[in-house]
Amino acid sequence: MKILITGANGQLGTELQRVLREMRAEIGPLPADYRGAEVVALGSGELDITDENAVASELAKGYDIVINAAAYTNVDGCESNTEDADAVNHLGPAHLARACEEHGTKLVQVSTDYVFPGNNEGERVETDPVGPISAYGRTKLAGEEAVKELCSRYFIVRTAWLYGYKGKKFAMTRFRLASKFG
Ligand SMILES: NC(=O)c1ccc[n+]([C@@H]2O[C@H](COP(=O)([O-])OP(=O)(O)OC[C@H]3O[C@@H](n4cnc5c(N)ncnc54)[C@H](OP(=O)(O)O)[C@@H]3O)[C@@H](O)[C@H]2O)c1
Repeated sequence: MKILITGANGQLGTELQRVLREMRAEIGPLPADYRGAEVVALGSGELDITDENAVASELAKGYDIVINAAAYTNVDGCESNTEDADAVNHLGPAHLARACEEHGTKLVQVSTDYVFPGNNEGERVETDPVGPISAYGRTKLAGEEAVKELCSRYFIVRTAWLYGYKGKKFAMTRFRLASKFG
């Protein structure tokens, strides 16, 4: 099995490399199918997902799975740099989706609860109506839609917060806010 991780130096990309290497995540072992997988982990300097030609030539090398961990994740920055945010969160996934479709590759597109308006009090279900209220949410939703439209073998994973050893950590952010306001 050959797996490409894009945005490999971010929080998720780094964790994905670790769990695939160790064949174990915090919640348990990975399925045996992943043992011995060839993992190609490319940071933004090695593969810019906004570069359609670069994406096409990388995917032509033949992958079974692409996990897109690349994103413009600065939520406030997306409001002022909408064009850049759209390029990474929308056009990038579109380029990946097109190339995956061409080569029969499965695409895992990581998305966010920011696609929802944030007005419900209970649990979310997949079929809840979307309605992003931020540029980040709108660009991520556009990325989802492009993947659905352009690729037939995809998974879209909407997560609300990532937990890991790198980057902005959920627990540490809570502690920081608590000490600020407590
Ligand atoms: N963090 C969270 O709590 C959270 C919550 C919900 C959803 N998500 C989603 O989870 C995914 C991963 O998030 P994360 O927290 O791991 O983000 P992250 O730490 O900010 O990592 C994103 C990575 O994407 C790379 N990147 C940016 N532009 C790129 C481009 N044009 N081509 C290739 N790579 C590019 C960045 O590289 P550079 O640093 O070199 O620019 C960075 O390494 C994203 O889809 C995000 O929307 C995250």
